[in-house]
Amino acid sequence: MKSKQLTPQKLIPYFSYQYGDIYLGDSQQLLQSVESSSVNLILTSPPFALTRKKEYGNESASKYIEWFLPFAYEFQRILTADGSLVLELGGAYLPGLPVRSIYQYELLVKLCNDVGLYLAQEFYHYNSARLPAPAEWVNIRRIRVKDAVNVVWWLSKTPYPKADNRKVLKPYSDSMQLLLQKGYKPKKRPSGHKISTHFSKNNNGAIPPNLLEIANTESNSAYLRCCKAKNIKPHPARFPESFVEFFVNFLTDEGDMVLDPFAGSNTTGKVAEKLKRRWMSFEINEVYIKSSQCRFADAR
Ligand SMILES: C[S@@+](CC[C@H](N)C(=O)[O-])C[C@H]1O[C@@H](n2cnc3c(N)ncnc32)[C@H](O)[C@@H]1O
Repeated sequence: MKSKQLTPQKLIPYFSYQYGDIYLGDSQQLLQSVESSSVNLILTSPPFALTRKKEYGNESASKYIEWFLPFAYEFQRILTADGSLVLELGGAYLPGLPVRSIYQYELLVKLCNDVGLYLAQEFYHYNSARLPAPAEWVNIRRIRVKDAVNVVWWLSKTPYPKADNRKVLKPYSDSMQLLLQKGYKPKKRPSGHKISTHFSKNNNGAIPPNLLEIANTESNSAYLRCCKAKNIKPHPARFPESFVEFFVNFLTDEGDMVLDPFAGSNTTGKVAEKLKRRWMSFEINEVYIKSSQCRFADAR
């Protein structure tokens, strides 16, 4: 289902910063005013299709895809040819049953088959600090384990989106550092792979895996301190900044345009500002927009 044709309006920012602006409103409407092929990266975590509705109004799993597709067609239109869409999606149990919704996978199939996006790579966001839930299946009956991973679909408009893993290298492990110091004798591994001397070349870091281990343990950040000082409730489902940093560094260059159409506390805008990317953020809830100012408290 394509998006309804709404009348494009001139976008008026709610707050403006050096590299970008945040806008109050429904993304479905605001997206219509974004120029085609003008955004290098859309990085977002839409409201999840959870069984129990969160305070900011999640869509139920069954209606989720129908709700999301009109946004997706707009995303496809506004991405540059080498642009990327990165979507973080939480999992959900079916109401009253110890079995999972497969909405993230159904959505992925639609995004590729109907909207025409490509799956560049799937990522998994592992949050070791996640609490065990739902209590009925995990803590009481003990028939499921803790769900600590969100899927992250990295989609692209063409098969070759801009990407450079040299910009997101991880520090080498201690054993790799030792190996680099001592040198490596070429030999065959038990798997049959031959490891050549190239393996001992120092590339200034290891290529990261598609499992992003980033705990959501923010407890004393400038954002939280500012919210407390202003007596504002912090956003309940924030990205960790390092999660956003990973994709902004990996998939964009300075000066590129980054959009978060479900911005919440505007972690994406804050990180884009820090990394000198132009950015736009859309958020429907004015309270969250007001509190997002706290992200920039240290920058003002
Ligand atoms: C999971 S939260 C995003 C949190 C964000 N990643 C952060 O770091 O704070 C999703 C947000 O989407 C917003 N939202 C839901 N529907 C929207 C719409 N149609 N247009 C704009 N924002 C919307 C909600 O108010 C909520 O703040």
